[in-house]
Amino acid sequence: MKIGIDKIGFYTPHLYVDMKKLAVAREIEPEKFTIGIGQEKMALAPLTQDAVTLAANAALNILDEKDKEKIDLVIFGTESGIDHSKAAAIYVHHLLGLRSEARAFEIKQACYGATAGIQMAKGHIALNPESKVLVLGSDISRYGLNTSGEATQGAGAVALVISAEPSILAFEEQSAYVTADIMDFWRPIYSEAAFVDGKFSNEQYIQFFATAWAQYKAKTNLALKDFEAICFHLPYTKMGLKALKPVLLEEGSAADQERLLANYQVSTGYNRVVGNIYTGSLYLSLLSLLEQQEDLADGERIGLFSYGSGAVGEFFTGILQPGFRSHLNVVQHMDLLSSRAEVSVAEYEAIFQQTLPIDGTTVELDNTNDPAEIYLAGMTNNMRQYINKQ
Ligand code: CAA
Repeated sequence: MKIGIDKIGFYTPHLYVDMKKLAVAREIEPEKFTIGIGQEKMALAPLTQDAVTLAANAALNILDEKDKEKIDLVIFGTESGIDHSKAAAIYVHHLLGLRSEARAFEIKQACYGATAGIQMAKGHIALNPESKVLVLGSDISRYGLNTSGEATQGAGAVALVISAEPSILAFEEQSAYVTADIMDFWRPIYSEAAFVDGKFSNEQYIQFFATAWAQYKAKTNLALKDFEAICFHLPYTKMGLKALKPVLLEEGSAADQERLLANYQVSTGYNRVVGNIYTGSLYLSLLSLLEQQEDLADGERIGLFSYGSGAVGEFFTGILQPGFRSHLNVVQHMDLLSSRAEVSVAEYEAIFQQTLPIDGTTVELDNTNDPAEIYLAGMTNNMRQYINKQ
């Protein structure tokens, strides 16, 4: 039985900051952000969007009634959740009107959370082939104003329906994974912003990829020539390239290098104009590749490298399924990205610093400018009030 991705949804808030203008405001050469880091735009979440609403909006447009009947497991990967106890998955389960006979929970291991969800979903489908699983990766990435991580922030979510006999990508059995206790990036529970050892995190990402790739090759006897493309977790679009290049130079033929580098560029398309969405970033990269690379063909193998600081890395693969293209929502995603509004750096700074009450006060948020179908309407007695306009 094949198990894999049957549907992919994506959502990002309607606001963004231009990276060149951010660079000028920070007295940095714009090319450092656009070329050195590889980011053009950075998505910005207004107060009416949080990890829950982003995920629910990502899933909203891909689920039909049949999916809703069959989804009996909702797994929410996030590192910017809204509650230390109640799972964000339960809010989404409610907002989407999913059946009550279901499991729903949140999973955490930095940017690796959605991948952990996928691996769990595989096991669930193997035991329950009629079921479908909704895996969500949703985050608002925050380092703080005027920090070195600022250029690698972003906001957005990816929703994946995992099922038997999938329409888009069937996962292969083998997978290579690595865990090591390191402090490259973390966020203590009292902090809104992440702490990061930037250079160390880059080095560890590269090392984890090299280790997982070596382990994968030993397990499968596959080589670079067997891959049409390799997608990476992309905290910023230059990162995956830093990990891929040494392996390409050491092991790749000229044809491998040309193909994998060209497809790498395509796979960074959406991430370049959204920024880091932590748990969803690898799957946003996959979506960029699937929706923007017209030369992909059925039966081709795609590699996926997931990295969650702290740290866990995993390399796994999937095979493109016949007719996968007709199951994508290219026009909808292009519209979503092109209809966003730019904010100035001053507006970004003001929005970034807005906060919700933490003393139980009631607040109603103004959503008149937020086009999202699902949004945070306010807070009452320390409870978030969500609305689905549909
Ligand atoms: N034109 C072109 N390129 C320029 C330039 C210019 N004028 N000026 C500088 N650059 C280049 C530099 O040469 C450098 O390129 P290389 O990396 O290829 O050498 C690049 O721009 C970045 O410059 P710096 O290294 O000086 O940048 P920095 O010190 O400001 O930090 C960063 C960059 C470490 C990524 C920082 O933004 C950061 O800490 N980000 C958050 C952490 C992160 O994303 N880590 C990634 C791995 S961890 C992970 O993946 C999990 C996760 O999601 C967080």
